[in-house]
Amino acid sequence: MDLFSDIEAPEREELLALRKELEEANYKYYVLNQPTLSDQEFDFKMHRLQDLEAMFPDMYDAKSPTQHVGSDLVESQKSKEKSGKSFETVKHKYPMLSLANSYSREEIEDWVRKLPQGVEIVCELKYDGLSISLWYEHGVLVRALTRGDGQQGDDVIANIKTIASIPWRIERADVPDFFELRGEVLLPWERFEALNKEREEQEEPLFANPRNAASGTLKLQDPREVARRGLEAYLYYMLGENLPGKTHFERLATAKEWGFHISEAIKVCHSVDEVMNYIAYWDTERKNLPVATDGIVLKVNDLAQQEELGFTAKTPRWAIAYKFPAEKQLTLLKEITYQVGRTGVVTPVANLEPVQLSGTIVQRATLHNEDFIKQLDIRPGDRVWVEKGGEIIPKITGREDRPISDERLAISDYSFPTVCPECGATLVRVEGEAAWRCPNESGCPPQIKGKIEHFVSRKAMDIEGLGEETIDLLYRQGLLHNIADIYDLKAEDIATQERLGDKSAQNMLAGIEASKQVPWARVLFALGIRMVGETTAKKIAKRYNSIDSLQWATAEQLCAIDDVGPQIAENIVKYFEDIRNLEILERLRQAGVQMEGEAAEEPASDKLAGMSIVISGTFEHHSRDEYKELIEQNGGKNVGSVSKKTSFILAGENMGPEKRKKAEELGIPLKSEEEFLQMISGL
Ligand code: IVH
Repeated sequence: MDLFSDIEAPEREELLALRKELEEANYKYYVLNQPTLSDQEFDFKMHRLQDLEAMFPDMYDAKSPTQHVGSDLVESQKSKEKSGKSFETVKHKYPMLSLANSYSREEIEDWVRKLPQGVEIVCELKYDGLSISLWYEHGVLVRALTRGDGQQGDDVIANIKTIASIPWRIERADVPDFFELRGEVLLPWERFEALNKEREEQEEPLFANPRNAASGTLKLQDPREVARRGLEAYLYYMLGENLPGKTHFERLATAKEWGFHISEAIKVCHSVDEVMNYIAYWDTERKNLPVATDGIVLKVNDLAQQEELGFTAKTPRWAIAYKFPAEKQLTLLKEITYQVGRTGVVTPVANLEPVQLSGTIVQRATLHNEDFIKQLDIRPGDRVWVEKGGEIIPKITGREDRPISDERLAISDYSFPTVCPECGATLVRVEGEAAWRCPNESGCPPQIKGKIEHFVSRKAMDIEGLGEETIDLLYRQGLLHNIADIYDLKAEDIATQERLGDKSAQNMLAGIEASKQVPWARVLFALGIRMVGETTAKKIAKRYNSIDSLQWATAEQLCAIDDVGPQIAENIVKYFEDIRNLEILERLRQAGVQMEGEAAEEPASDKLAGMSIVISGTFEHHSRDEYKELIEQNGGKNVGSVSKKTSFILAGENMGPEKRKKAEELGIPLKSEEEFLQMISGL
């Protein structure tokens, strides 16, 4: 037996673990668009893996993440299945590689040492978006490929053509027959913030950073939506045969002449000092740029020298990236406040002296739970480090040493509150859980309101007109205490409230009435049983097609359902053990809410039987798909175009002019969404 094998074993294991971790991180970054590691962590781990692989050449594996670049192709495969449409996958003419990263002057010096004497280095900004490869044939843009797995990418030309600064055609005699121009697609900060604001209003998940938003946008199958979001592109690399210019800089100057968007921040440097000055300047100045940057790129200027230096399997030897350090700031932790969520979890929140970080002002950050605070050993009055982790969401990563003389040292250790800051109930901490919870489910205001907000939310009962503020108002008036109270609301209760009038009352009641058509699976989700999310609710509803059958299910039986573990099963059993819940369920049933599966699938009414209905325009209360469902559920038929057989048009805002004209000609009536909802609710 090899004497050293025992000593080596842990490192071999570490090697395998790192491969797995980096493979997963690549998948999450490129495919799921949800980065889990910071760039620095990723690079650190990648270096360690490279070192280990050098130590154990017998463990070589062509599939190791050190041997290939991450891939985003899987996602397009998925979106193909989902949408039926797809992007064409095309082999790159020249592989799209990534760049080696560096973080210090020393690393840059190491790189420069391997270059020819007196080399010219072009410094550029490193744009933090997605790389794109544009193909021009006889001056015409013919393909726009994503990086994909580096060997082949998706042709997203229809989306790329929405970017105003990318020419579709270059009308010049001196343009070569073929050339390729690579660059970065980005969503400018301003556009990114507007998009997230809009998504927040529509209760859609937010993008963590502009890069994710750009990636999500580029993969949309709807160029009109892409155009609306406003992508931008910067180009930085021209390739092809017999192209003009002997240097990289000259090529970019030519591209600029041809009308391409080339950054102004390009500089030819002759020494490491010059490079470091460029870095120092842009590390500050980049905060004023309209797009995200995460470093600079250094490239050998002379193209002949580039060719001589060549490539490794993954990166060119003639270029390297320098990554800016993660943005960090020290600021005062003024106070810790406590937020009580829908399920009673009490979350500590750091209230900070406002501080500027990567272009936004940060004044609050989550402290997660008691253990997190204890680990960091922080308390009000400390100066704490705030960092932007996966960029946009700030986190606290440590604190400055306290001065020895600080009298606060005399203060005993930090302790988490023992009672709920909202209702005064004694908090409980379930064994094995990090969170403190307020057990007063039906008496604690944020829990009561949170449950109602969840119940009415879009993916649950989708009751429009009953937003956070209205719920708060009606709760304070004593009109709403639980989800069943919603169905007892009367027009006069609502219309007499400050800020609400007859119209709001009518809308709200129509929404409430329409919610009685919501299928059982969504009703189950809407009840807000702890840990029963949308997908789990669907799976449970398939197995138990009514509340009555679910009510008598044992934890063991529930665990047989895919996705349901002991914890969820126990939560469900407990939910039905609480008499207050049973009363609420009975009231919901009395109100006409769907408590059975089959009933939801059969037509809810025949109010629209025999009618052909055209949907046109945009709507306030439901999406077009939901209206389509409502039409079908009430026995009607949704048709695409207006004819004399059309019964009426469900007309929203900005109805198509063609349809309006045709409807007028044929004398087809238009109905507003309110009229339609009333029609099916029978009000
Ligand atoms: S040159 C052969 N220049 O950074 C490599 N890349 O981490 C040619 N990037 O995949 C790339 N700004 O998406 C180059 N000025 C710039 C860049 C840049 C951003 C991206 C690019 C590349 C990634 C590598």
